[in-house]
Amino acid sequence: MTSATTSSAPVSASTPAPASAPVSASTPGSAPGSVPVGGPLRVAVILGSDRHGRFGPVIADWLLSRVRTREDLTVEVVDVAAADLPTVLSPDPEPAVRDRLARVAAQLDAAEAFVVVTPEYNHSFPAALKNLIDRHRAEWQAKPVAFVSYGGISGGLRAVEQLRQVFAELHAVTVRDTVSFHGAQAHFDDAGNHLDPAGPDAAAKVMLDQLAWWGHALRDAKAVRPYGR
Ligand SMILES: Cc1cc2nc3c(=O)[nH]c(=O)nc-3n(C[C@H](O)[C@H](O)[C@H](O)COP(=O)(O)O)c2cc1C
Repeated sequence: MTSATTSSAPVSASTPAPASAPVSASTPGSAPGSVPVGGPLRVAVILGSDRHGRFGPVIADWLLSRVRTREDLTVEVVDVAAADLPTVLSPDPEPAVRDRLARVAAQLDAAEAFVVVTPEYNHSFPAALKNLIDRHRAEWQAKPVAFVSYGGISGGLRAVEQLRQVFAELHAVTVRDTVSFHGAQAHFDDAGNHLDPAGPDAAAKVMLDQLAWWGHALRDAKAVRPYGR
């Protein structure tokens, strides 16, 4: 298997859309891809692996190439390897660490939506990603989170299901459809191009349309009624 959404069921079957808007079979909401009122949605792509020799950047670059084709989204990358956060939680970190923490917190705070790129390690997600998540709270709240996963035979799907539980605790909304790469490395050439891109490109569009719908809906809702946690 190369890549796919998590289910073969029609996307519209479990995806809310405004009652008055026409809904296509694969796209929630209206006018996906066009520049929305209030400007493009600010998306942070979180690269969740910090393993030396990691494959994650290939997956992240593929995703970024998809996001950058859209006028309704802008994108910034938060890489757990570059963030280099300590694993010890301290109320009084040294100044250099405080600066790194502040930089990442500002990036997450500025984002209106997230795509988490995660591999699967022993049926879960990487410790460095959990560390990034646990160090923040308000930064995640009332924002949508989508997932691109990769791994061996599982395609990272078990990591994603665990992440849904974590983000629920943080008052984030996870979007239904994901992109998963099973046996990921076999499906990209040495330049990082997917060998058969039609499937993953289509899955990415469905996922990003859902992320955009939730992101804009929550932006509008928070303008009327700030989220109170
Ligand atoms: C410690 C470790 C545990 C892994 N466990 C799983 C697993 O449970 N399921 C799976 O499908 N792949 C598993 N893999 C394969 C990885 O998901 C795959 O190698 C992926 O490319 C790792 O991401 P990275 O290269 O960005 O670190 C594991 C890899 C490592 C290093």
